[in-house]
Amino acid sequence: MKGKLQDIMVLAGSLVLFSIFNSCSMTDPNHVSSPDGSISLDVRNKDGIITYSVSKNDKIIINASKLGMKTDQFGFVDNIKILSSEKKTFKETWTQVWGEQKEVIDHHNELFIKLLSNDNNRTMNVRFRLFNDGVGFRYEIPGQEGIDSFNILDEITEFNFEEDSPSWWIPAYAYRRYEFLYANTLISEISRDKFSELVENLNGPRLGPEAVQTPFTIQRDDGIAIAIHEANLTNYSSMTLKANGTKNMECDLMPWSDGVKVRAHLPLNTPWRTILIGETAKDLPLSTLTLNLNEPNQLENTDWIKPGKYIGLWWEMIGTNQSTWGSGPHHGAKTERVLEYLDFGAKYGFDGVLVEGWNTGWDENWCCTGQGESFGFYEPHPEFDNELIAEYAWKKAIRIVGHHETGTQIENYEEQLDSAFAYCNRNGIRVVKTGYVNDGSQNIKRIDGNGDTQKEWHHGQYMVEHFRKVLETAAKYEVSIVVHEPIKDTGIRRTYPNMISREGARGQEFNGFMPVDAHNKPDHTTILPFTRLLSAPMDYTSGIFNLKDYRYNSPDDRTIDTRHHIPSTIAKELAHYVVIYAPVQMAADLPENYKGHPAFQFILDVPTDWEETLVLNGEIGKYITTVRKDRNSDDWYLGSITNEESRQIEIEMSFLASGTNYNATIYKDPKDGGWNTNPEEIIIKNVVFSKGDVYMIDLPSGGGQAIRFYPKR
Ligand code: NOJ
Ligand code: CA
Repeated sequence: MKGKLQDIMVLAGSLVLFSIFNSCSMTDPNHVSSPDGSISLDVRNKDGIITYSVSKNDKIIINASKLGMKTDQFGFVDNIKILSSEKKTFKETWTQVWGEQKEVIDHHNELFIKLLSNDNNRTMNVRFRLFNDGVGFRYEIPGQEGIDSFNILDEITEFNFEEDSPSWWIPAYAYRRYEFLYANTLISEISRDKFSELVENLNGPRLGPEAVQTPFTIQRDDGIAIAIHEANLTNYSSMTLKANGTKNMECDLMPWSDGVKVRAHLPLNTPWRTILIGETAKDLPLSTLTLNLNEPNQLENTDWIKPGKYIGLWWEMIGTNQSTWGSGPHHGAKTERVLEYLDFGAKYGFDGVLVEGWNTGWDENWCCTGQGESFGFYEPHPEFDNELIAEYAWKKAIRIVGHHETGTQIENYEEQLDSAFAYCNRNGIRVVKTGYVNDGSQNIKRIDGNGDTQKEWHHGQYMVEHFRKVLETAAKYEVSIVVHEPIKDTGIRRTYPNMISREGARGQEFNGFMPVDAHNKPDHTTILPFTRLLSAPMDYTSGIFNLKDYRYNSPDDRTIDTRHHIPSTIAKELAHYVVIYAPVQMAADLPENYKGHPAFQFILDVPTDWEETLVLNGEIGKYITTVRKDRNSDDWYLGSITNEESRQIEIEMSFLASGTNYNATIYKDPKDGGWNTNPEEIIIKNVVFSKGDVYMIDLPSGGGQAIRFYPKR
């Protein structure tokens, strides 16, 4: 009895304490919470140094972390004063031109803090926004007398994690940009050496500081998952996170070749620094925070921006090795072969046919140095009869997907940009895949004002501005772009919905041109949804059905290199179309591997524009099950994938509309299936489901499952 009474008194005491704490926080001018109250942020000034900290469910998850800026003309490092703070609440619902969900709610509480640097009497503001799915903040430096342009030497932003948690990361300042498998270590263990030990050897000259790219994701012991990234990367250089053997990560901006981090003008708003926070990892992929921190759509007319699916003259170069991009007996982009692809694509209702090697510039050693012959972007190769092809495509109501491989010859591309996109517009090309192959991270040639050659980083400000220029020019000519070797996605698709997709991670191509021991691993696409895909659509190019013995030794030597084996199954390849979001999706295999194959129907059916998305379950690097509802019908689609481990996942059909019976076509691996045992057999079954039904998904090692649900009529 006494025990019970004590418990009640303790409970009563803590309620009082909680409400005192709460009312203090409410009146604290430097405290702000998310609309649902689950996330809160405090700003403090300790002896002139400004910090922020973040709590989730009343537990600190980011300890006091420094804020600040160092420039060549003023600084906010120490001796800073908080001049004032203001709070406000905002709520609106906006509609996406295309996306994972149609309506997006932007509901946040804002804290706006004005800072004064006592050293030089300059002001700088920090704007924090707290959403139910995380935190965003940015620096805003207003115009001030005597300063126009200036150089940022360092941005002093820290992310001082409270727990040294397991993290998933790819290295920054490494030769292959973002195209790496992920390492999984404690935050304090992040290092290039660790990456070499766990993933692939990065020995060779160190190119920059010990740092990782974002999105960078951690999994806390209590289930909470956090990802650090940025939103609206505009006129700035991209943020990497410096690792220093502790659990405190620091913002590290990719510099210009002269070491300056950002060339800036006043007034300046930096990109948003974002902290995505989920109760568990499966909440992260549903976050809309990055989009909410971007500016609304700037394009007046978006009717020409069309989600859809495409096939392409591509895998036969990069995957099966039977054709070449350049001239010669095996040149792929010959008129006749393109017409075959157009026939096949039109017959099955595809929107486009990608043709690589259609233009000039492929015949010298263009890859991977930034040197070589200059590409022509409106000059077809003599074997590609542009006029005939454009007319044929028009008659068949299908379009060519253009291709601009730049080889990172940026000036060459920029000189031709207008003519290149005008050419697309004239020839009915509505989507262009661009490319920036250059296997050296600081190897982008730039001619400076003195006519001297400088070498810039792939993800520094020079390239951020280049990528934007291409996007804006493409919009002018009503062309959408799919960028390979891009700058990371920071949600710019909201402002420019013609930014329709991008690569920016290791895609299917690595199962083509890389030796077999460097193929993607079965867990790779179970990591992507919690890391790279948090930033947005990806052109992964799934849908390979011929998973073994698909690659020739060379275009001249048509014997099979039997070592090649994609670590996937046909069912998993289908599931990727739901798990990996992209408004334009490629069916990457050759037409001959699809013809007559019953699993092809799923690729034909699956939409690429969604009304709603839910993640039913998932653990980083282990498995994930995603369901999405079509934007243009009542159909639902499910994709579930696993890593190397086989598993059974029970799901409840809670997402289906009540009172409706759904026919479901299930595409699953056989019992003895799995990437290494029987990857090319697939079982297709029809069943009926209704809301609330419970279903067991069986996934063999490296396998997957895809389901289409459509109302029974
Ligand atoms: C790399 C891209 O990722 C790939 O899709 C393309 O085929 C080659 N570059 C050539 O442009
Ligand atoms: Ca690539």
